[in-house]
Amino acid sequence: MIEVKNLKKTYDNREALKGISLAIDEGEFYGLLGPNGAGKTTTISILSSILELDSGEVIIDNQNIEMQPKEVKKLIGVVPQEIALYEELSAYENLMFWGGLYEVPKNELSSRATELLKLFGLDQRKNDKIKNYSGGMKRRVNIASALLHQPKVLFMDEPTVGIDPQSKNLIFEVVEKLHKQGMTIVYTTHYMEEAERFCDRIGIIDDGKIIAEGTLDELRNSSSVKETIAITFLNLNDMDVKEISAFWGDMKQIENTVHFYSLNVKSDLSKLVLQCNQLGLEITNIEILKMNLETIFLKLTGKQLRD
Ligand SMILES: Nc1ncnc2c1ncn2[C@@H]1O[C@H](COP(=O)(O)OP(=O)(O)OP(=O)(O)O)[C@@H](O)[C@H]1O
Ligand SMILES: [Mg+2]
Repeated sequence: MIEVKNLKKTYDNREALKGISLAIDEGEFYGLLGPNGAGKTTTISILSSILELDSGEVIIDNQNIEMQPKEVKKLIGVVPQEIALYEELSAYENLMFWGGLYEVPKNELSSRATELLKLFGLDQRKNDKIKNYSGGMKRRVNIASALLHQPKVLFMDEPTVGIDPQSKNLIFEVVEKLHKQGMTIVYTTHYMEEAERFCDRIGIIDDGKIIAEGTLDELRNSSSVKETIAITFLNLNDMDVKEISAFWGDMKQIENTVHFYSLNVKSDLSKLVLQCNQLGLEITNIEILKMNLETIFLKLTGKQLRD
């Protein structure tokens, strides 16, 4: 359904995308997971024709986005990271406006808007002005506006950032429903829980590149790490880190904590504690981290997803 080949984009002199390639099947729920500045919004913006690409190719439902932009626009719905609504208009009026832009037939638009506002639990408030809505309510209207023309593909850029739990759950429910109905969804997030919960497949993006891709199980297995032993020290200087890495190569330092990757925590734990004691390092905390997207990401990049 979506084919992206070697996508590149530079802003001024900042290389935001360094050759992104993706292949997303029809009906697939694809998660693009990455930290701030990784290139998620840039990717989504190009895929949804909001932003021009420098080089590479994007095909959506057999249409090239550069050659057939109008056709592609009809196929896709976009929920941008920044909420775009008219504050002085009501939710219903906003939907009528966006529906007009998307050329939803007049005779269908009103019932479609009403139906979507109901789906998002806003039917009681639909005539209130947007300026009186909470962030979560605005976000729900924003998503509804992307669905008016019944797109085949939905792009969502961090749709749950900074909103209340109730709105978040409602959005999750709707998104899951759309997925069940067969919609192709591309969802960016830096919350690994969301990627783990929804996504059929996950692409981990960092610094303008996809650094790993697969189902959650594939990602877990590919990183050849079962668990992480996180040991925090009272102090840790460069010399200490050097000595630690000399006896345990498969490790990563994050401030005063060192993540030791282990295939056998039971036997490795006591070994590690002993070695650290021998180096005269004072341990203040030990934690065994289960393998999840956060630890996979950390292992791949040396960075934390939440920064
Ligand atoms: N309009 C712009 N002009 C210059 N640089 C930009 C612009 N938009 C994005 N960038 C840079 O491009 C890189 C990728 O940004 P992008 O917004 O795509 O990241 P992101 O993954 O969506 O991040 P976030 O999680 O913060 O939304 C960043 O280094 C960012 O500073
Ligand atoms: Mg972004």
